[in-house]
Amino acid sequence: MDVKQRVEELREKLKKFNHEYYVEDKPSISDAKYDKLMQELIKLESENPELKTQDSPTQRVGGEVSSKFEKVEHDTPMLSLGNVFSEADVRDFDKRIAKAVDNYTYTVELKIDGLSVSIIYQDGYFKRAATRGNGEVGEDITENVKTIKSIPLKIDFEDKLEVRGEIFLSKASFNKLNKTRLENDKDVFKNPRNAAAGTIRQLNPKIVSKRNLDAYIYFGFHNDFKNHYDTLMKLKALGFKINDKTKLCKNIDCVIEFINDIEKIKHDLPYEIDGVVIKVNKKKYYDKIGYTSKFPKWATAYKFPTEEKESRLNSIDFQVGRTGVIKPVAVLEPVDISGSKVSRATLHNEDFIKSRDIRENDYVIVRKAGEIIPEVVEVNFDKRTGNEKKFEMIENCPVCDSEIKRKVGEADYYCLNPNCKAKHLAGLIHFASRPAYNIDGLGEAIITDLYNDGYLEDIADIFKLKNHKEDLVKKERLGKKSVDNLISAIEASKDNNLDKLIFGLGIRYVGAKVAKILAKNFKTLEDLANAKKEELSEIEDIGEAIANSVLDYFHNKDNLELIKELSNLGLNTEYKDTTVYEDTAFTAKTFVLTGSLTDYSRKEAKTIIEDLGGTVTSSVSKNTDYLLVGDSPGSKYDKAKELKIKILNEDDFKKMIDTGE
Ligand code: IVH
Repeated sequence: MDVKQRVEELREKLKKFNHEYYVEDKPSISDAKYDKLMQELIKLESENPELKTQDSPTQRVGGEVSSKFEKVEHDTPMLSLGNVFSEADVRDFDKRIAKAVDNYTYTVELKIDGLSVSIIYQDGYFKRAATRGNGEVGEDITENVKTIKSIPLKIDFEDKLEVRGEIFLSKASFNKLNKTRLENDKDVFKNPRNAAAGTIRQLNPKIVSKRNLDAYIYFGFHNDFKNHYDTLMKLKALGFKINDKTKLCKNIDCVIEFINDIEKIKHDLPYEIDGVVIKVNKKKYYDKIGYTSKFPKWATAYKFPTEEKESRLNSIDFQVGRTGVIKPVAVLEPVDISGSKVSRATLHNEDFIKSRDIRENDYVIVRKAGEIIPEVVEVNFDKRTGNEKKFEMIENCPVCDSEIKRKVGEADYYCLNPNCKAKHLAGLIHFASRPAYNIDGLGEAIITDLYNDGYLEDIADIFKLKNHKEDLVKKERLGKKSVDNLISAIEASKDNNLDKLIFGLGIRYVGAKVAKILAKNFKTLEDLANAKKEELSEIEDIGEAIANSVLDYFHNKDNLELIKELSNLGLNTEYKDTTVYEDTAFTAKTFVLTGSLTDYSRKEAKTIIEDLGGTVTSSVSKNTDYLLVGDSPGSKYDKAKELKIKILNEDDFKKMIDTGE
């Protein structure tokens, strides 16, 4: 192979690996192999400068240092967005759209907390990137943006194309950057957005290249692009990184559901967001809906409600959760936020504290967002006096003094002692709490008391409290009446549905929603305890981590004893379907699916059955009513025949749906 061919081959390979790694997040080769190919290409290009091209992956390592950024005028102004803050505001926005146009749909996107960029491609080549500036005139940051590996240098698009998006730094890259800065006695960046903005204004692109900036694209301008959602899909096909949470919504209820869903998972995202952006899809409506002087009326930003206050961080405390997880908590000078007194706020984990250089005695910004636990956001460095204490992670459990360990790939430390008192206590409090077994009158304070007095060691003890009635009445905090009430509440709770019990057990990764899925699928605690890995993994929404955690839990001897005891104590261990359905041929019937259907995916068939009042389980047993069989059925078919279960083919199934019989 001649040099030219090899250079081209290397470029293609590196481009492909780049896309896999930075855009799709699915690398197929190791970093070392990637580096080797890159080094080979750099060498060949420097030996044969005539083979260099402007879209070569080697161009990303950072060009010349400049003394300032040139000013550039935007083709169309880069506008900002209007803000809305509540569900009512979102509905008002929708009403305004409905007044102006008919037949519209929305795209909902995450509002990434970074800085906006405009990038122009000409005949497929990356030509120029600019900051927003004042909206009309920005600064040329071409060399810096070229170092962002998720932005393609060459695309398959003949004409001129402008895309706009948000440059940001992931939480992980931010943590790493600040850690190094701290080690080198440099000031830390306050938050990922400041770090990204500071980085993009670096005059040396080589430094920028090392910081791992990233970008999501959220706009594309071309005459052929007539619909915003379709534009994003086209840009994705061209190789741009489009946020995978982006969703097409047919109505405003869908938008509100999206906002609520995102608010719940916002903290688990690997990058920071400050809201959700709602955009009308049809571009031909834009002029009709119109603009104000600053922003379009066909789009808006829903901002998550937050209130921030400054307070003194008196000390850092550690709390042990029921999984043994150790969480750092800020003990604050009490401060009033959104109408409630806040004296404790989460500090998330070691990396969070270290990357933001949060120290005892610092003045910190505390944020409370809706119902969410208050959190420390950043330090007010202007108020540092020199009396602050640098943070060091503890080495032993603050409750039982045993060894603690940070799990590989996780940010949290765990107490390794299975008998740690804090774990047991937190487990009991969780069990009795409202979202779990919901035992009226059995709150944190009483549980702690009863635990310290030796009445409660495990969950089963809760149901034996009635044997200690006299002792309990003697205790000063509990009068006869309240003991009676407590015992009745405990007795009444035994009828709780199975999902509440499963959730209450405190199995790792099994939240209220997963508990419900497990209860619905397995029907009894016994069947769940005997579930095999395949049966668990087959269920939609049950991933590998959950499946393994459930197996681990029920493979533990102590846990098996506990659930046996709970069942003997009279707790309900069966799932009762409480949904009210009109009677159909599906009502209260149990289906199992095998093989592939022609007209429905498995998921669709499952939804139909459930919507009509039936349930779908994963394995055939004597409790199965119907086996729905598609092409190439598995062993379930033989088992169903053996158990004389009624077998339906796809046509029978359709008939059942149509006739209801
Ligand atoms: S659309 C005319 N979409 O938020 C509409 N902006 O407050 C302009 N941002 O300046 C922007 N994620 O820097 C849009 N998915 C998204 C966004 C987004 C973040 C930023 C952007 C913009 C600011 C407006």
